[in-house]
Amino acid sequence: MSIPRLSLRPKRERRSSSGHPWIFSNELEAGFADLPPGSAVDVFDAKGKFVGRGLLSPSSLIAVRLYSRARHDDLDDPLFYTMRLREALAYRERVLPGRTSCRVVHAEGDFLPGLIVDRFGDHLAVQVSTVGLENRLDVLEEAVKQVLAPASAVFRNDNKVRELEGLEPGRGVWFGDPPESVDIEEYGLTYRIDLLGGQKTGHFYDQAVNRQECGRLCAGASVLDVYANTGGFGLQALKHGAERAVLVEKSEATAAAAVRNADLNGLADRATVLAAEATRTLEELVARGDRFDVVAIDPPAFAKSKKTAGNALRGYTRVNALAMTLVKPGGLLFTSSCSHHVQEDRFLEALEKAAEHAHRTLRLVRRGEQATDHPVLPAVPETRYLKHLALQVLL
Ligand SMILES: C[S@@+](CC[C@H](N)C(=O)[O-])C[C@H]1O[C@@H](n2cnc3c(N)ncnc32)[C@H](O)[C@@H]1O
Repeated sequence: MSIPRLSLRPKRERRSSSGHPWIFSNELEAGFADLPPGSAVDVFDAKGKFVGRGLLSPSSLIAVRLYSRARHDDLDDPLFYTMRLREALAYRERVLPGRTSCRVVHAEGDFLPGLIVDRFGDHLAVQVSTVGLENRLDVLEEAVKQVLAPASAVFRNDNKVRELEGLEPGRGVWFGDPPESVDIEEYGLTYRIDLLGGQKTGHFYDQAVNRQECGRLCAGASVLDVYANTGGFGLQALKHGAERAVLVEKSEATAAAAVRNADLNGLADRATVLAAEATRTLEELVARGDRFDVVAIDPPAFAKSKKTAGNALRGYTRVNALAMTLVKPGGLLFTSSCSHHVQEDRFLEALEKAAEHAHRTLRLVRRGEQATDHPVLPAVPETRYLKHLALQVLL
């Protein structure tokens, strides 16, 4: 079958030839809008040089995502996805040897745009966010079974990108008979993962190393973990000998999961889990005069788009100023931003402003980012989204 050829407009090849897989609709000559959504297409530059082979999303601003730079790769053949999955697995075996629970496919970071696969032992949670992959689920299923041999897989397709692709959100069983929950081990802690009910794909693997690094500095400390999800930073702190930890999480079901995880790890007697709103709780704690040796704060993405980045920065300044006020002089603040649209320098500026508001001085202890199972491609800045800073908060 012949593959439709799309041409880039003159001088629009710089990003794609430097390794970026996205082709925007305004970079293409007309002629693609009538092709069926999800079609495999070949992209050429204005001089007729082959750029790559991709899948078409005619309704999205990102009109083509490139999956391959080789014309012999067949994007309708399970063998292609088998090869990509094998490469993704080999990378994890290289950087996280022996790990059976982690993210095994991180979309563009693994040269599979639109696909996220989190592995919880024998079970998978999968997010498919492009029409090209949605149309090839049978091909993907064959490859996933071949390479990962999971007992079951669920879809966690609740993300916004699907809307832009004209796809319905949703969650459900893909194949197999998934259990209600799975226990996984991560840096000495057991987490009970709710495959279909938990947030995102069930667990925030991206913070695994930052949680562990935070925990290491918490022996004997009083700890406040805000936006705690199912235990996050607070439980690692307790595991490393923190004297007590207060966890704040708005979702009642998620807070209940944090209590269960504290129990599972024998840490419940030193943990207080509050199902409560973060900013209000921070304000109440400030007003009461409570202070902590360590505060961790890990909000959801405040900036959902470039347009809202300004508001997001004000949001980061506000919660971080409150958090800094709650840190005892010389104590530590672990602060994160997972907003794609907020760059690290802007996040740092927001933190400097927060320190000014809180009348505190900051010293940078450690710069962190997403764990290595969420690989970053230097040519694709969007693959790096998590900013994490450990700061000492001086008087
Ligand atoms: C990025 S996740 C935190 C991940 C966690 N630190 C971990 O290591 O697993 C953000 C969490 O904040 C919670 N959340 C969102 N808005 C909130 C709010 N206004 N107050 C408290 N928690 C909130 C979400 O339910 C979610 O669990």
